[in-house]
Amino acid sequence: MSAPGPLPQHIAIVMDGNGRWAQNQGKPRSAGHQAGSDALKRTVEAAGKRGISTLTVYAFSSENWHRPSVEVKHLLELFLNALNRDVAELDKNNVALRFIGNRSAFNPAIRDGMRRAEAKTRDNNGLYLNVAVNYGGHAEITEAVRQVAKEVTQGVLRPEQITEALLEDKLYTQGLPAPDLLIRTGGEQRLSNFLLWQLAYTELYFTDTLWPDFNGEHLDLALADFAGRQRRFGSLPQVENA
Ligand code: IPE
Ligand code: IPE
Ligand code: MG
Repeated sequence: MSAPGPLPQHIAIVMDGNGRWAQNQGKPRSAGHQAGSDALKRTVEAAGKRGISTLTVYAFSSENWHRPSVEVKHLLELFLNALNRDVAELDKNNVALRFIGNRSAFNPAIRDGMRRAEAKTRDNNGLYLNVAVNYGGHAEITEAVRQVAKEVTQGVLRPEQITEALLEDKLYTQGLPAPDLLIRTGGEQRLSNFLLWQLAYTELYFTDTLWPDFNGEHLDLALADFAGRQRRFGSLPQVENA
C-alpha cells in the first residue's frame, strides 16, 4: 500500500547494517552481505510497484577498500555474481541499470559486466536503478573540477562560464534529478560521503532497521514520513491567498 501525499520520484538509499545483522545471527559478515543483496532485490521490486521512478543505492564506497581484504574480495565476488545472474531478471522487469563511481579500480571482468548490464537494459523505463560502486562524493566533485580545469586550460571554457549546471553535468549523476528522499538503514545518522552535491535539498530519513531486514513495509513507513514533510527549498511555505 502506498502512502497518501506526494511520492518521492527519486530515492537514494545508504544500505547499511549488513555486518551487524550477520553478527546478531552469529554468522560471518559475508552472510550479511548476501542477505543485503536479497534485500536490494526486494526493495527494487517494492519501489517499482509503488511508482517510484529512480533508486540510487550505495553498494560500495571509495572508503570501503579500507576493510579487511577478505571482506573486500567477498563483496567484489558478490557484485560479479549479481552482474552475471541478476541482470536478466532486472531486464525482464523493465529496470534500467546504471553504475556510478570510479570504475578504473575494478578488474576487467567486473568492468565488462557493468558495461554489458548497462547496454542490455538501457532502453528500459520501468525503474531507473543507479548502483553506486567505488563511489565517493569528494572524489566525484574532485573529478568534475579536474575536467573543468582541463577545459579552461585548453581554452575551450572561460571561468565565467562555469555554472552549477555545468558542474552538475560533469558528475556521475549527469542527467538525473536530485533525490527527493534519502533513506539510511542501520541507525547511523551520517552521509558517509554519499551524493554530497546532489543531497543539498533532499529529505533525510534514518531508520534503525538493518539493511538485510528492509522490506516493502519499511519502505512504506519512509514514504509516509516523506508525505508529511514540507519542502521549502529556502523559500516560504506555500500559503493560500498570500
Ligand atoms: C553495508 O553494511 C554494506 C557495505 C558497506 C558494503 P556494512 O558492512 O557497513 O554493515 P555494518 O555497518 O558493519 O553493520
Ligand atoms: C556506507 O556505509 C557505505 C555503504 C553503505 C556502501 P559504511 O558502513 O561504509 O559507513 P560508515 O563507515 O559507518 O560511515
Ligand atoms: Mg556500515
